[in-house]
Parts: sequence; structure tokens; C-alpha cells
Amino acid sequence: MTYETASELLSQNGQSQVLKFWDRLNADERDALLAQIERLDFDSLSRMQNLMANPPAPEGGNPEAPNVVEWTPELYAEAKAVGERELRAGHVAVLVVAGGQGSRLGYDGPKGCYSIGPVSGASLFYFHARKIVALSRKFGVRIPFYVMTSEVNNAATVKHFEENDYFGIDKRDVIFFIQGLWPALDQQGKIILDQPGHIFMSPDGHGGTLTALLKNGCLEDMERRGIREVFYFQVDNPMVEIANPAFIGLHTLRNADISLKLCAKRDPYEKVGMVVVRGDRFGMVEYSELTDEQANRRTETGDLYFKYGSVAIHIFSLDFMKLEANKAMPLHIAHKKIPVCQDDGTVVKPSSNNGCKFEKFIFDVLPDAKTVLNVAFDRNEEFSPVKNAEGEDSPETCRRDLQAKWARWFVAAGMATPTVPLEIDPAYAMDAEDLAAKGILLRD
Ligand code: UD1
Repeated sequence: MTYETASELLSQNGQSQVLKFWDRLNADERDALLAQIERLDFDSLSRMQNLMANPPAPEGGNPEAPNVVEWTPELYAEAKAVGERELRAGHVAVLVVAGGQGSRLGYDGPKGCYSIGPVSGASLFYFHARKIVALSRKFGVRIPFYVMTSEVNNAATVKHFEENDYFGIDKRDVIFFIQGLWPALDQQGKIILDQPGHIFMSPDGHGGTLTALLKNGCLEDMERRGIREVFYFQVDNPMVEIANPAFIGLHTLRNADISLKLCAKRDPYEKVGMVVVRGDRFGMVEYSELTDEQANRRTETGDLYFKYGSVAIHIFSLDFMKLEANKAMPLHIAHKKIPVCQDDGTVVKPSSNNGCKFEKFIFDVLPDAKTVLNVAFDRNEEFSPVKNAEGEDSPETCRRDLQAKWARWFVAAGMATPTVPLEIDPAYAMDAEDLAAKGILLRD
């Protein structure tokens, strides 16, 4: 893009301030800024400005709690058999969203590289990837692993996989794809520069997954590979049971568009989203949007009415993903402190919110889904995310929960509760049955 084209485009969209330091920039800075301008998505920008000017009214209607699947031993066995068939047939892909910035954790790299192994110090990515190795071996099939990164953390993520020999996955089956970045806007709807020659940009949210899959050719790649179901999860939860056969099988049996795992909330205000039904459409009320009345609503027996939270473990049918990838998703606004380049070229980090960031959320596809399955599970088995540096949902609680889970496998396999720090490579044993089958003897 030339300076003239950029200047005209920006002026048409009321954003000429982006070039205000042009005369002070060197050749490299100019090229970099023009490249940023070229990638700006002006349609989304005007949607952002509209959203700032006209914040949407809260969704009408009384949200109701959704039905949750009631497992019977027969249903579980049937679903498991179908899920195993799907896995064996190579119909299942795995997708992790790892483009976020991990600011709450205070870790300055891709969150997936964070060391979580209680003994080995292995990374979050290690635990995810080794489960895929285990599944591939068990079902004798290649399972593609799609890893969503952002421009901010892609190079470091790829390097981490390379340095670790892709954790044992065939590198042709690890597909990195980069999500979009969006600018932030000041209170007047103007793009913010955080350096004289640089637009402040941040990832467009995990809702950006669909556009990114489409743009990067991943949906076609999935189709070529014969994929039908995509198992989706977040990078911060090493307890996730990736592509659990019964979960996959139930999704297939019921011909669902989306299936979600839900767990009983720790307390009414736990920071998890909440699946709701409005009429015949599903939706998600995000924890930041939950009213006190909704949070504390009780049933006649005193239970929380909205008892379950979604832990962002989903299965999407590829057909549904393809349909949704072409639609514009709703935008969500977050008021943030954004570094700003002053007129004299110095950069100021504000002490209060001075601008807006925008994100798309993957669960906003829910209202379009015809069949949605909500499957409850025991959080001790599958959910202990690394979100905060300390306290709840921290590395410490996560390592504790991982070790407690592995210790239960030892006991189930007839061994004593381990008294030393413990870690099991997921490719060695995926569950208590696997561990027992290894016949290892660690009796005291
Ligand atoms: C998220 C969910 C919440 C759910 C909870 C479970 C949202 C808005 N809410 O909350 O409903 O109950 O997890 O743990 O997500 N990510 C990207 N790109 C982005 C933004 C995020 O890949 O642009 C990824 C992150 O790397 C992470 C995941 O999405 O893996 C979740 O992001 P985070 O901001 O930590 O979500 P939470 O607020 O914890």
C-alpha cells in the first residue's frame, strides 16, 4: 500500500490521525505502519463505532436454565462406542485457542508455554499434545491438532513445539493458524497509536477462531482430511479430557451442532459463562454480564437455578462451523487502559480507562445452533484452569488438582496413595484403566 492510498482510505473513514507522525518516521517504520493500515478491517471498525454510540440493550426475555443430558449406563456405553468409531475413522480434529494474552497470570509468553508439570515442569502445551499422541496411538489414526495463536505469540509458540519435537505428534498434523488483531478506539471512536509509527492492536477474541480458520484454509484442510467433529478447548486447562469418546459419540448420535461441557459452579459468582435458553434458542450469559438476581436465583429445593457453568470445552460439527464462518459475529466491548502516543511522541500509560477494545466470543454462535447438547461433568476430573498468578485457578491449585487426579488413578488401580510428588505422561496413561493395564507395581 502506498502513502497516498493509505491517506485516502483513512480520511474516508475519519481516521487521518493515524498518519500524524508520518514525517518523523524512518523508512522501516513507514513500511510497518502502511502494512498495519492495509490489514485494518474498516467494516468492523464502523461496527465498533456504532457499538460505542449505541450500546445494545440487555437481551430481552427471561433466560431459562438449559436441560442437561442425563447419562444412563446404557447411553454412556452406546455413546462411547460411537465416539470410538468416529475417532478410529479419523473424523475428529482437535482445536485449542491459545491466542490470548494471559495478562491475569502475569506471564510474559504464550500461555501454552507456561510450565505446569508438577515434577517435569512441562508446559500446558505438553499436556494437551501428549493426549493427542495417546489418542492417535490408541485408535491408530492421525488426529490433526489446530493451534490458534495471535501475531503476538505465534513465533514463540511454533518455536516451543519445534524445540520439543512437537511432543511426539507428526509435525504435519500440527497446524498453527493466526487469529486477527483489532485496533482499540478512544472515546471519540478514533484508532489509538501506541507509538508514533504503530497502531495499538489486540487479538479479536476467541470468536475470531472461525474467521481465522476460514482465512487460513483450515476449514478446507479439515474437509480434505475427512473431519466431521472438531473438539475445541482453551489452552489454560491441562485437566481437559481431549476428545473423550463418550462426549464425541453423544454429539454424533444426537446430530448436534454444538456440544458443551458444564460443571456445577463453585459459587454463584464463579467466573464462568452460563448457558441459557431463550424461547427455542440457546445463548451464553458471560460472567461479567450476569445480574445479581440471575446469579442468586434458587430452585424450590434451595439449589442454584443457574447451577452450571460452561468451561469452554465444546464439540462443533464441521458443517456448522463452515456455516458460521461466513457470518459477522456480535462484538463485545471492554473499557481498558491503553498506552497512547502523545503529540510530542512520548508514550503515556494511563491510570484510568481511556479507550475500548473489542472482541468476538465463540459462544455467540449458540443462537444459530439447532441442536445443542449440554453435558455435565465432575470438575475434579476435567477442570482446573490456570488463570491467576495466585489464589483460585492458579498454577498452585492446578498442580494440586492434577496430582489428586493421578493419585485417584493409582488407588483405582489397586495401589497405595502416592506420597511423593506425582506426574503421569498422558501418552503413557490417559486414565485409571490405562494405568492399571500397564501393570506397574508401585505397592508399598
Ligand atoms: C473464559 C470464558 C468463560 C468460561 C471460562 C472457562 C470468555 C469470554 N469467557 O473466560 O465463559 O467459563 O473461560 O475457563 O472467553 N483466547 C484467544 N484469543 C483471544 C482471547 C482469548 O485465543 O483473543 C483464548 C485464551 O488463550 C484462552 C481462552 O481463549 O485459552 C479464554 O480466554 P480468557 O480471557 O482467559 O477467558 P476467561 O475470562 O477466563
